[in-house]
Amino acid sequence: MIEYRNNILMCEDIDIRELAEIYESPFYIYSRNDILNKIRFLKDIFSSLNDVLIAYAVKAENNLSILKMMIEEGIGADVVSIGEILKYIKAGGKPHNIVFSGVAKTKEEIKKSIELNIKRFNIESIPEAVRINDIAKELKKRVKCSIRVNPNVDAHTHQKITTGINGNKFGLSIKTIKENAELLKSLDNIEIESLSMHIGSQMTDAEPFYKAILVMKDLIEEIKNMGFNITDIDIGGGYGVRYNRDNLGFDFDKFKTESINLLKEMNLKVTTEPGRYFTAESGALIMRVEYVKEELGRKYIILDGGMNDYIRAAMYDAYNEIYPLVKKENVSNYDFAGPICESSDFFAYNRECSELKEGDYAALLDAGAYGFSMASNYNSRPLISQIMIDKDKHYIIRKKQTFEDMIKDEII
Ligand code: LLP
Repeated sequence: MIEYRNNILMCEDIDIRELAEIYESPFYIYSRNDILNKIRFLKDIFSSLNDVLIAYAVKAENNLSILKMMIEEGIGADVVSIGEILKYIKAGGKPHNIVFSGVAKTKEEIKKSIELNIKRFNIESIPEAVRINDIAKELKKRVKCSIRVNPNVDAHTHQKITTGINGNKFGLSIKTIKENAELLKSLDNIEIESLSMHIGSQMTDAEPFYKAILVMKDLIEEIKNMGFNITDIDIGGGYGVRYNRDNLGFDFDKFKTESINLLKEMNLKVTTEPGRYFTAESGALIMRVEYVKEELGRKYIILDGGMNDYIRAAMYDAYNEIYPLVKKENVSNYDFAGPICESSDFFAYNRECSELKEGDYAALLDAGAYGFSMASNYNSRPLISQIMIDKDKHYIIRKKQTFEDMIKDEII
């Protein structure tokens, strides 16, 4: 939990100013107990169902230390590359808890995943089904699969993170699935035991989930009648968080009464793939004010962290709260910008904030998901450090890259 106590920004029992004296700015912090609370909360939401796999979408944040604590809580993995599979296993995870999503699984990735005995492939196209079947045949294996359905239900979220409407590259339409049913059944080395979906990310309304599960329910009945033995459903992820502290997050009450009850009726094994929900609110990006620049009536806070460290504002116009580490009485309206040579390197425009001056620190909140995992070396800036906080303790879980780290793979 990152919040003000007596006007000092605290992460659990740590005054974040202390960290700014120890670790080189900018850096990410994560609250261990916030992540654990989110995991336990979601487990409780699904607790009335019999057989549930909560498969964390590793792409949201894949630090080995964070994966390890999730694995210790019994959390599986939803992955989109062999790199994510290997990271999850490296952190102590078991292959039989891994589901493999993604539209472009390569032959090498499929082969390696079959050899590792992962739980299931979530198939995104007919050619992929044929490819997995061919590789499984060569390896003399029969592998479990799910067909990712595009249910054509609008998730009511940002257009760039909507994945379940016609025109998105993900999954298969109901029409394609039915038209190819016989072909899919003829593939002897894959066993289609499940249908899956993931309609979008950062949903706050639970209604689209319910609508999409209803579509899946009808389709499951239909394809069971066509001879498929469906025992599982994977409802994807997408549970939103409250980036704006005046907003509410995902409507779990409605989700429980509608979607969980519907799933109970369907009496299938259930997988869900939360990413953002587990880590977003636990994390913050701590940055130092390098300059306060006044220009043509605007006040810019120029920070030492930029879009290469956290790209969501530049990429999706995302909103994040920005809190100074010490809250003062006087407020001002600022544009918050980073050091990158791009006009889109902004975190907020015209945001009211307690007064900041050169050398002060500020925290960009709710940056624990799709933050570090989307960071880059753009502008030849090293990847920054990640710090875990557990009550009154803090420890480094990723060191800042050195200049040498950054150039080590280049050949001159
Ligand atoms: N399952 C699948 C198949 C997915 O593609 C995703 C996310 C998830 C689960 C997890 O979704 P979540 O629970 O985190 O919403 N970079 C964007 C988000 C991209 C999400 C991609 N897929 C952002 O920063 O908003």
